[in-house]
Amino acid sequence: MAWLTDLTHRLRFRRSPPADERSRMRAVANNLILHLHPTRVPAPALRFTHTWGLGGISALLSVLLIATGVLLMFRYDASIERAYPAIQTLETVVPFGALLRGLHHWAANLLVVTVVLHLVRVFLTGGFFGERRGNWLFGLGLLLLVLAFNFTGYLLPWDQLAFWAITVGTGLLDYIPVLGKAVATFLLGGPEVGQAALRNFYALHVAVLPAVLVLALSYHFWRVRKDGGVALPEATGPVEKLTTIPHLVGVELGVALVTLAGLVIFAMLVPAPLEAMANPAHPPNPAKAAWYFLGVQELLLHMHPLAALALSTIGLLGLAAVPYWDREASAIGVLGRSARGREVALAGLLLSLLVTPALVLLDEWWLDLPGWLPGWPTLIANGLLPLLLSLGGLAAVYWGLRRALRARHGEALVGLFSFVVGALLVLTVIGIFFRGPNMALVFGT
Ligand code: HEM
Repeated sequence: MAWLTDLTHRLRFRRSPPADERSRMRAVANNLILHLHPTRVPAPALRFTHTWGLGGISALLSVLLIATGVLLMFRYDASIERAYPAIQTLETVVPFGALLRGLHHWAANLLVVTVVLHLVRVFLTGGFFGERRGNWLFGLGLLLLVLAFNFTGYLLPWDQLAFWAITVGTGLLDYIPVLGKAVATFLLGGPEVGQAALRNFYALHVAVLPAVLVLALSYHFWRVRKDGGVALPEATGPVEKLTTIPHLVGVELGVALVTLAGLVIFAMLVPAPLEAMANPAHPPNPAKAAWYFLGVQELLLHMHPLAALALSTIGLLGLAAVPYWDREASAIGVLGRSARGREVALAGLLLSLLVTPALVLLDEWWLDLPGWLPGWPTLIANGLLPLLLSLGGLAAVYWGLRRALRARHGEALVGLFSFVVGALLVLTVIGIFFRGPNMALVFGT
């Protein structure tokens, strides 16, 4: 029967099974890698500047967050009396506790940045055309998932920063008509941020969201493979194919090592913030949301909350509609769709870097729609009107780019996208650095 065993092995491995332990381990590792990747990949897909490794870095950060998160759970206690002291102990007593917390904290923040940049890269290289449409929509869900992860984690240290950022953040939910209040009460387990909220956020953060993320990422990666890998420009001649091992894996390992080394050094130099223990009776001034929601919080200073939420939702729906809106699939894999598209993208970005701060200053010092229209209901003067003006402004940017730069539809959409990304960036920077007491604009310290 030896011949039968040998034949079975040969059929399974197509060649003799690895003889020694090390070769067997290598075979297992290779097998794992080849479940994630095809055996060969087109050489252009390996060009680092095509993807900037942003999807891979996001995946690496997700794994790191789960690993460091599990370790943090050994010392954390989700009680409003004991959570803060537990974090203090971790920072001062537990060996490498501060580094562990720092890694978790900075990796979580970096993940928001890399996922957004990955979205921008996928958009700019037309990674949403054709069969990739589904994965684009799924990716938007992933973005929301990453934000939910950050949001629920924000509360856990139970310091002033955590308490008030979540109070402000969940306060925004109240403005969503019909469902908003119910969702906020469900999340908080009551009318305000307290023990029930901490318990709920903890359960979501360490059990529900990680499970959803692992499943969602597995599906996302599977779809990338199913859809033919990274979006690449149509080849004019034969495309060189390189073996995944060692070429692709080598690039991935390099990027992973640099990211990890950078993150460890950063976490050693910059400790994760920890303010005084949460004090519900003592709100800080200003009370700001987490930095990635400051763009939306900035909008709230300029228009009725309903209008600000409507504008943000329209932005998200716009992103979801992109594959249906832009059908120039001939431009798959080409950055900005074409050379003209890249110019239009730059023009859209520069325009928003000029126009957005100008509008913020104008609204701060001069524009006063509710004051100028005293008889009008606030919802219209400070809500509907600014909303329509903003949407009108975006339409004007699209048409302006089409006319002034003779951009095609897809190229003008690239310009509009760059404009919106630039505006969000400016609003977030203003929220972080230029809003002081009572959320007034401050310049310098
Ligand atoms: C934790 C979040 C995410 C992770 C870990 C992730 C990971 C990845 C990876 C590894 C790839 C292969 C190419 C590359 O490395 O860039 C990829 C491709 C892709 N991702 Fe993501 N992604 C995430 C979120 C998103 C988001 C927010 C979107 C868009 C809304 C998105 C849409 C896509 C699409 C459409 C592709 C295939 C098209 C292409 O690569 O050109 N992903 N993703």
